[in-house]
Amino acid sequence: MAKAVRLDKFLADAGKGTRSEVKKFIQKGQVQVNGVPAKKPELKVDPDNDMVVLSGETVGAAPEFVYYLLNKPAGCVSATEDRNDRTVMEYVPSERKGLFPVGRLDKDTEGLLLITDDGMLAHELLAPGKHVDKTYFVRVEGRLTVENIEKLEKGVDIGEDKRTMPAKAEIVGGSWEGVGEPQPGRVRRENLPEVYTELLLTIHEGKFHQVKRMMAAVGTPVIYLKRVSMGPLTLPDDLKKGECRPLTAEEIMSLKQ
Ligand code: URA
Repeated sequence: MAKAVRLDKFLADAGKGTRSEVKKFIQKGQVQVNGVPAKKPELKVDPDNDMVVLSGETVGAAPEFVYYLLNKPAGCVSATEDRNDRTVMEYVPSERKGLFPVGRLDKDTEGLLLITDDGMLAHELLAPGKHVDKTYFVRVEGRLTVENIEKLEKGVDIGEDKRTMPAKAEIVGGSWEGVGEPQPGRVRRENLPEVYTELLLTIHEGKFHQVKRMMAAVGTPVIYLKRVSMGPLTLPDDLKKGECRPLTAEEIMSLKQ
């Protein structure tokens, strides 16, 4: 028999909202336990035997693991706790224990971050040698030449024993078209240097500050970094900075294949 848990915890763990959100559902009489409207968030329910209904919909028992996709904003750290900074966990709409970010994005990096309590899956995604492809949208200062793209693709020296593994780099924008000369008269966006390049860089490893170190190694320092995909997961266009949603069943399946 599953252990009895508080009703608000049960609902929050089932992904129905944060603890305070589900408490409001209970206060508003939207939750029934075994056909009776529940009045107290602390009511104990047995997930195996009690039937919990929220707004007419039966709520299943908490899944074994949960998976969230966060569009990480800059300014928070990829950790579960931190003394000085906000953490990515503040954006996760769950108080389930044991959740953690899979891998790290730097404090100033934005984009796709998987949050889960599935340690095995995290291990599969992060273990050396099993690292999945990660694609970053990178804006660098200066002009990235064809020669430097080739260097990035072959592997560059970032001060470790070995060069980086082969990567894929594709220029997608910049202060001029393609890799040609800067266009005279082109309007610059605010806060951008006169000459910059935007690229999609796909890497297979996860070394500390890897993208920044790779771009510095070819003389074009990173001024903006955002992860747009990790393995089969892609950052959805409609997931705004700071928004976090549960993975769909298809996304979970694709990660486990
Ligand atoms: N590479 C970096 O340099 N920073 C990140 O946050 C991710 C990859």
